[in-house]
Amino acid sequence: MRAQKGVTVWFTGLSGAGKTTVAKEVERILKERNLYVQRLDGDIVRKSLTKDLGFSKEDRDKNIERNAFVAKLLTKNDIITLCSFISPYQEARDKARKEIEEVGGFIEVFVNAPLKVCEERDVKGLYKKAREGKIENFTGISAPYEEPVNCDLELRTDQETVAESAAKVITYLEEHGYIPETKDYTTEEEELITERLNGLGYL
Ligand code: ADX
Repeated sequence: MRAQKGVTVWFTGLSGAGKTTVAKEVERILKERNLYVQRLDGDIVRKSLTKDLGFSKEDRDKNIERNAFVAKLLTKNDIITLCSFISPYQEARDKARKEIEEVGGFIEVFVNAPLKVCEERDVKGLYKKAREGKIENFTGISAPYEEPVNCDLELRTDQETVAESAAKVITYLEEHGYIPETKDYTTEEEELITERLNGLGYL
């Protein structure tokens, strides 16, 4: 039996909410456990797979559609797929879910930090530019963000640490049988296991 079951974890939220940061930490933990994982990220794929697209509703829908297509292929092959896209439209997220659920799991994760917080962070300086009118159609400023109506998990990244947010995702994956649960052994248990394995000549 395989150690992991195909699933797409779909991180949605405003720019600067922490989608990439949490996805990277989840990726790190999964890799440490020797699981197969692939990340798809708006800032990266928009330089290649979807570099022809802008930020109109039509283009964002195409961006999500193409990435959902890739995520579906990965999920079908039992890869844990971590998608970080603003994906501001509920309908586009629902379509992605419908496609991907044909072959595996789909977890919609709302990476929720208030606009005010994202704007204060302004990691890439884009909110400032958007306020100055130098960027059009900027999510939260001059373009909509539809909050999830049926998300599976919500991460309040303004109230919890990156480690806490990532742990919630990992626990969800474990509890729903996508990845094996890790057991934390006590020192006594560890000693006993080592002793037994030694006795069997494995160590
Ligand atoms: S989505 O809406 O189509 O899902 P995606 O997640 O791929 O967006 O890309 C968002 C990233 O593009 C942001 O993190 C930001 O760095 C950059 N960006 C550039 N222009 C805009 C804009 N008008 N609105 C939102 N993000 C933008």
